[in-house]
Amino acid sequence: MRPDLDPFHAIAISRLAYELQAEGRSVIHMEFGQPSTGAPAAAIARAHEILDSDPMGYWESPALKERIARHYAEQYGVTVEPEQLILTCGASPALVMALASSFKAGDRVALARPGYVAYRNTLKALNLVPVEIACGPEDRYQLTAAHLAALEPAPAGVIVASPANPTGTIIEADELAAIAAVCRERGIRIISDEIYHGLSYVGPARSMLEFAPDALIVNSFSKYFSMVGWRLGWLLSPADHVHRARAYMGNLFLTAPSLSQHAGLVAMDCRDELEGHVEVYRTNRQLLLDALPALGLARIAPPDGAFYIWADIGHLTDDSMSFCQQLLRDTGVATAPGIDFDPVDGHRFMRFSFAASTAQIEEALKRLVPWFAERGRLAPT
Ligand SMILES: Cc1ncc(COP(=O)(O)O)c(C=O)c1O
Repeated sequence: MRPDLDPFHAIAISRLAYELQAEGRSVIHMEFGQPSTGAPAAAIARAHEILDSDPMGYWESPALKERIARHYAEQYGVTVEPEQLILTCGASPALVMALASSFKAGDRVALARPGYVAYRNTLKALNLVPVEIACGPEDRYQLTAAHLAALEPAPAGVIVASPANPTGTIIEADELAAIAAVCRERGIRIISDEIYHGLSYVGPARSMLEFAPDALIVNSFSKYFSMVGWRLGWLLSPADHVHRARAYMGNLFLTAPSLSQHAGLVAMDCRDELEGHVEVYRTNRQLLLDALPALGLARIAPPDGAFYIWADIGHLTDDSMSFCQQLLRDTGVATAPGIDFDPVDGHRFMRFSFAASTAQIEEALKRLVPWFAERGRLAPT
């Protein structure tokens, strides 16, 4: 039997959070990266219309593919043909298809550690071999061209994520260009997860497509568009590869939900409402950045984007799961343990998601201050 995949520990934290809530406790959810806002109002209105008028069969929206292709021209200045796009049920199946259609069993695929838990597990599920590269604060927890140049033998592929989960850090344009150049030289296929594009506090994130036209790009409506439960995303593949990926889509997933595709098309033009969410995250980010050092959490890389803060709690614990469970039980603040994102060093890290409302973040901080003060007092010096 194949080895089990690692569990997503934040799910266990979330389950406990909802149990406490059912007992009447007040809980603030900072464990998952999901917007607390719903889909844009106009997208919801469109969905209501469709429910009343459309039988909703298997379907891939040509209009949505055209709109996404236009987004690449407008946002990144790159030309994308609608046929290069496959609409998916979120970034998760897009990642499965990108990996399954690009690599054969046993191929090695590089990725940053810490990184999104599903990268490692999806690679394992597909009989691919994760090559985790330890990335520390000196690299702002991101892969570099130098890392990829030093790997012997060269891996078949690399997963790049900018802004990243769990750190929110962005890879600068010149480093993206350098990564693209090393990958071109060494024949490394790039899979770029751009799910947090649009959520950036230091200027827009650049697409890997600008530097590596043969990269596969994964994206989703879950984050910027605030449509997690609608399960909609896309995979963008080079023209000579897309038929391979499409065969996986047809066999494994068929199509993305039609209702979501209709709503997603409208959501793409709801910029004012969506930028309003980004302003809330910007405020929340600053609140946490201002407050965390006073809690003793000074070893953090300020996130350039996404809605996470990755904090080193090594002075307080070497068991991030128990630490987050205790924090939740004592304060009602749910967070994610670092072991989800880094199986080696994650026992001494935790991740805060600041996708909640500003009032909730303020309340969370009120509860965290005395709790961390007490821990700091008890911690060995
Ligand atoms: C980096 C990253 N990629 C992919 C996903 C999966 O997102 P989706 O909801 O689009 O499947 C997530 C979810 O949190 C994520 O953080």
